[in-house]
Amino acid sequence: MNDPTHPALKALVDDLRTLWGEGLDEEDHWLRVKDRLGVFVDQGKLRLASRNWPGGRGEELLFHHDPDYGFFVGGLVRPGPHEALPHDHAHTWTAYGVLDGTEITTLYRRTDGGEEPGRATIEISSRYQAPTGHVDLVRPWQIHAESNNGERSVAITVRTEKPGGYGQNMFFPDGTTNMNHRGLKLIPFTVDP
Ligand SMILES: [Fe+2]
Repeated sequence: MNDPTHPALKALVDDLRTLWGEGLDEEDHWLRVKDRLGVFVDQGKLRLASRNWPGGRGEELLFHHDPDYGFFVGGLVRPGPHEALPHDHAHTWTAYGVLDGTEITTLYRRTDGGEEPGRATIEISSRYQAPTGHVDLVRPWQIHAESNNGERSVAITVRTEKPGGYGQNMFFPDGTTNMNHRGLKLIPFTVDP
């Protein structure tokens, strides 16, 4: 576990641990996580600090992996233009909050029945701005992609579990799909107080 020494991060983790301990049903639980992450990403001081955070394409900063409840808190730094491929987070939930910059969220739906292994067709179901402070909930199997407006952005994730231990679906422009994508490279990182 990475020690959450930053007071704001510690407060977030403490709140999340309390929440996990309450054992609410999934929908209520994640709406509460969303609210709590919304407070976290609405901090100007943290926003300024995040401008010095490392991390880049294909990487996720690991802030906290909870030893008791298994949830994960991470940071995604997009140093410049960023456009993710459509993907899902398999069976897990993610609260995704924009701490700095502006992102765009695109949601997709599958238009085939999954009959042909390794192939998938998808279409856009919605696309919207995710400005600083915006929090999305990524539900199990929701196909989505995040992009930014070409300038650096930073997002904070709260995930059901540490990524990398399960296969995620990736959807490629040529209509192929990879069901066993293992997420991003995790970089342990301590946010300085
Ligand atoms: Fe994602």
